[in-house]
Amino acid sequence: MNHEYPAVLPTMSTHAHNARPSPKRPFLDRLPDSTETHELVLKVVPMPADCNANGDIFGGWVMAQVDVAGAIAAFRKTRGRTATVAVKEFIFKQPVRVGDILSFYASVQRVGNTSITICVEVYAETFNDQGRYLKVTDAVVTYVAIDEEGKPRTIQQ
Ligand SMILES: CC(C)(COP(=O)(O)OP(=O)(O)OC[C@H]1O[C@@H](n2cnc3c(N)ncnc32)[C@H](O)[C@@H]1OP(=O)(O)O)[C@@H](O)C(=O)NCCC(=O)NCCS
Repeated sequence: MNHEYPAVLPTMSTHAHNARPSPKRPFLDRLPDSTETHELVLKVVPMPADCNANGDIFGGWVMAQVDVAGAIAAFRKTRGRTATVAVKEFIFKQPVRVGDILSFYASVQRVGNTSITICVEVYAETFNDQGRYLKVTDAVVTYVAIDEEGKPRTIQQ
């Protein structure tokens, strides 16, 4: 058997991954305006600890941030505690890189008796090319307004 091992493990360079594949959709020159119905609710920068073994940001990390962003909007609208009950599909058309500035916009799609459905859109301002923005994903998340016992409560409209 061949027991020749490399003296050092290959290192994972996050810089090597900062070059983006050409986007299918064009870069935007500016972010959408934040309005009452399409509100910028969260900005966050992914760190090296949020990477997978390829040096790209974990999809699951982005999903968690989407859940937080949607929950901020849901919390405001329902004026209290909420729980995530359902998420429609996530499609990632562009990778997210360490150091990108991510902006999360939330808009209310539907308010039911106890549930609220929020669309969250995510834009990345690229680390190496600031002032240019790419939409990286969007998702539709449904939250249920809950009381102190975790039971659904009616949303006052
Ligand atoms: C959220 C929770 C309190 C809802 O309780 P429930 O008894 O299942 O509630 P109901 O069946 O009465 O549904 C409540 C609302 O959610 C909606 N809902 C339920 N399942 C849904 C689904 N799959 N998609 C969209 N909406 C859904 C219902 O339509 C209803 O909305 P409405 O009152 O506006 O018509 C309960 O399911 C729960 O605690 N889930 C775990 C939540 C959680 O921990 N999330 C994080 C996971 S890590």
